[in-house]
Amino acid sequence: MNKYYLLSFMLVLFSLTSCETEPESLTLSSPDGNNQITFDLTEKGEPFYMVAHKNETVVDSSFMSFELKDLPALADNFKVTASQVETLDETWEMPWGEQLEVRNNYNGLMVSLEEKDGEKRKVNIHFKAFNDGVAFRYEFPEQENLKDILILDENTEFNLTGDHTVWWIPGDWDIYEHLYNETKFSEIDALSKRDVPDLAATYIPENAVNTPVTMKTNTGLYLSFHEADLTNYAGMTLKVDPENHRMVSELVGSERLGGKAQLSLPFNTPWRTIQIAEKAGDLIESKMTLNLNDPNAIGDVSYFTPMKYVGIWWEMHIGKSTWDMEGSQDMNTWTTGKVGSSQHGATTENAKRYIDFASENGIKGLLVEGWNTGWDQWLNSEDREGIFDFMTPYADYDFDEVMRYANEKGVEVIMHHETSAAPLTYEKQMEEAYNFMKANGMNSVKTGYVGKIIPKGEYHHGQWMVNHYQKVLEKAAEKKIAVNAHEPIKATGKRRTYPNAIAREGLRGQEFNAWSADGGNPPDHLPTVAFTRMLSGPIDFTPGVFNIKFEEYKKDNRVSTTLAHQLALYVVIYSPIQMACDLPEHYMLDGRVHPAFQFITDVGVDWQQSKVLNGEVGDFVTIARQERKTGNWFVGGITDENERTLNLTLDFLEDGKTYSANVYRDAEDAHWETNPQAYAIEAMEVKKGDQMDIRLAPGGGFAISIVEKE
Ligand code: NOJ
Ligand code: CA
Repeated sequence: MNKYYLLSFMLVLFSLTSCETEPESLTLSSPDGNNQITFDLTEKGEPFYMVAHKNETVVDSSFMSFELKDLPALADNFKVTASQVETLDETWEMPWGEQLEVRNNYNGLMVSLEEKDGEKRKVNIHFKAFNDGVAFRYEFPEQENLKDILILDENTEFNLTGDHTVWWIPGDWDIYEHLYNETKFSEIDALSKRDVPDLAATYIPENAVNTPVTMKTNTGLYLSFHEADLTNYAGMTLKVDPENHRMVSELVGSERLGGKAQLSLPFNTPWRTIQIAEKAGDLIESKMTLNLNDPNAIGDVSYFTPMKYVGIWWEMHIGKSTWDMEGSQDMNTWTTGKVGSSQHGATTENAKRYIDFASENGIKGLLVEGWNTGWDQWLNSEDREGIFDFMTPYADYDFDEVMRYANEKGVEVIMHHETSAAPLTYEKQMEEAYNFMKANGMNSVKTGYVGKIIPKGEYHHGQWMVNHYQKVLEKAAEKKIAVNAHEPIKATGKRRTYPNAIAREGLRGQEFNAWSADGGNPPDHLPTVAFTRMLSGPIDFTPGVFNIKFEEYKKDNRVSTTLAHQLALYVVIYSPIQMACDLPEHYMLDGRVHPAFQFITDVGVDWQQSKVLNGEVGDFVTIARQERKTGNWFVGGITDENERTLNLTLDFLEDGKTYSANVYRDAEDAHWETNPQAYAIEAMEVKKGDQMDIRLAPGGGFAISIVEKE
């Protein structure tokens, strides 16, 4: 080796240790070695990543960049200045949830990037590889040449490796209440969903999908793309390039801002997440989204009790009564004009009727909508600011008397705040409204944001509203109040940090069956929701319709499932609050409480553990959950429009014990369309390892309660 070579060798060594040259690509593997992320820079210094599962590429080389207002893009000319690995294996407890203990086990890699010259701006990319998927986020450290920025676009690419089957809803900036579509990736056409009826606000700017979006590859792998810890940032939709099988992040914008997100450094973006599973059910069991959020920041939340609840609610949706006292508005179709004489639902007597039903049937909670003033001006107003009042009851609703009666009967009343998408009015009243709740012993509130956001130019899923929903959670936590938001921002696992975020809507709920012009939710709706929307967190779907066709109220609307399917939803669709949404009189049969209501009385709402026993996206799913405190097991299974027989093995039960099981299933001749209320109940003795064949009718389901024998 001559002198010249020696010198250059030493230079290379030096530059490698100080990382002045292009590094070899960096890779990171999950603890079980199955999921792998590779990070690298192109010759031009453009960052890109790839993801593989076992030896199969899941996401091919995908670029990552940002466009900024009045500044050069953060896209290329980068070098790696440092990289750091980490590993964690911890177990934490959920105050309420699908399971008590959650294992958080990942390997992490932090890549520090800096522009090679010019402003030398810095950005770090933080990767985590879990056994159930991978995630990364951008971390903008404090620095000299980058202080306050307006992000015009985040361009995180997801290059798929084939024309996967996709279950998607359009990337609407204002609402998630769309039906899921099952198509090939190349056939995604979100713009065709622009004019779906019955949406109070909708804005679909381009061919994009919302997250979680779930896919199945030709090789049988399941993928779901979403985000975790959405804080002070805009929600992410995924723009679709159908020919190239490519998705690119498209943040929800703000016309007022003239961009997507206004930020001051330092800050971190939300995590971009890719769940990877070999069985569809493993997507549901994954807790990666939660694990990517910070631990509980608000302490004890025992003021919230997981519970079932009834409510003055479905009767307005099917048109038996009204929210407003005048009865002058048709809130079902969100239109104005006289629709008839007052049939106000939220009266003192009616509330007492529900309280009686609840206390006699083991239901803890009562929701009353339309109790407060504002509803009769709402739809007539151009300007919705200042219309709703969250302290003043209607004249025919004796607030104090209802609270007294509920208290006497051991029923907890849930507050209702419909903000009419006027968040500033809500923010003004929040302090007082929450004090009013607490003074009356109320611990949880259902909020709602129907309509276009005021101020104009903001969207439900933009940064401004993300920050509003956050303010509500924080103020509510300070007052010891739990929040169930309708028309919410998507769930991104924040319930770990703010366990007062108990449930939310954020999907096409049961209400669409009451009034939707397109026939409501088809039988495959919930077998799809379980593998899509439900991956993000608890759902206030409001199951439990027994009067499936409610022809005495509406001829053209109905529920498109069997009664047994409705029962199964208490187990399949997870929420720490579950409504028994039908009217008390619809839960009666031949002068007594409907025998199938016993399942709703018995079923748990807070779980020690949950197991997905079988399932295929959009077709069927069966979940078994063990209740905390009692140890009782509940199993729920649902199917789409196809009849099927599912074979269950009760291998989750404990050895050497005998249990009493009650099976609630579709009758032989049940069918969602023609005979939806036909059911059968069977009692039997079971033990660990027992096998059961259960036939589900078209649009059907089954529910089982399993209690250890004394
Ligand atoms: C929409 C909500 O989803 C529904 O549950 C509620 O009854 C209405 N808004 C009125 O607030
Ligand atoms: Ca809604």
